[in-house]
Amino acid sequence: VGILTSGGDCPGLNAVIRGAVLHGSRTGVEVVGIRDGWRGLLDADSAPLLRSDVRGIAGRGGTILGSSRTNPLDPTSGGVERILRAMDEMDVDGIIAVGGEGTLTVAEMLSRAGVKVIGVPKTIDNDISGTDYSFGFDTAVAVATEAIDRIRTTAESHRRCIVVEVMGRHVGWIALNAGVASGAHVALIPERPQSLETIAAWTTRVRDRGHAPIVVVSEGFRLEGAAEPHSHKGLDAFDRPRLGGIGELLAPMIEERTGIESRSTALGYLQRGGAPTSHDRVLATRLGIAAVRSAAAGDWGTMTSVSGTGIRNVPLADASERLNTVSDERYEEAEMLFG
Ligand code: F6P
Repeated sequence: VGILTSGGDCPGLNAVIRGAVLHGSRTGVEVVGIRDGWRGLLDADSAPLLRSDVRGIAGRGGTILGSSRTNPLDPTSGGVERILRAMDEMDVDGIIAVGGEGTLTVAEMLSRAGVKVIGVPKTIDNDISGTDYSFGFDTAVAVATEAIDRIRTTAESHRRCIVVEVMGRHVGWIALNAGVASGAHVALIPERPQSLETIAAWTTRVRDRGHAPIVVVSEGFRLEGAAEPHSHKGLDAFDRPRLGGIGELLAPMIEERTGIESRSTALGYLQRGGAPTSHDRVLATRLGIAAVRSAAAGDWGTMTSVSGTGIRNVPLADASERLNTVSDERYEEAEMLFG
């Protein structure tokens, strides 16, 4: 079975690979590593993975296989025929695709076209449906929480408002959880556009109590009335706008509206790099084992997913059906703490 990691990387990818290889080596399933996501599959760029290749990698960030945002369904890529030829050439029966919503949507389309695929959900954003959690998310929240704790002390020293921008293209789980964990005063998320007036009222209330307001904002947040999230960096390989920059946009607006000196910090790739938390290492290892088990059982077209504390298989289509957004209930619970 071939294994590839595709899309934006995330802490825990190496633990999945290790789990898959170790389980395969004990059960007679040979695991072949495919380089740079779908790009490597199109080019049959691969090498067998042995126990010795995965020694000690569960705690290492990134992915030993490399990743890319190549879209294999791009009309110029050669499509399904080229993939099936490449699989023949590499002598693999099926593919374990570890990726986020973009990768899993492609995996599902390939599966419908006759490619044997099993999906493993990964994302720091935690936006994939069909699974309770994705590995990478816990690490990203821990990194963001620690960063906000640090930002708070400098904000307090200068009585400044600091806007902290975190990742989260479509959903605000990182902003919400890191905001609650660090005691931030406002969390702005894609699911809930807010007006500048409301944000100014929250921050002013904090200042009036003698504190320095901390605003956490997801990169995909929109001000009320804005049609799209802020983007000024062009498009990615899937023609999606590259996000980032909303913090820099908001800070001067808040300053102008409230008179509170305001600054911004974007945490960016810090949230994706580095060692996974122990929670993510364990989850990722279990998903790697489960994916090889599913391949051996011939459960193609499925995704290994988390349900409560268990691992189960769901149809790949469940991953792309909708996004795992922040529910009204969760947001309102957090909103009680704002301002
Ligand atoms: O999907 C995870 C994510 O971190 C998103 O929050 C973000 O929009 C995207 O990756 C950015 O990734 P890249 O800059 O690698 O395209």
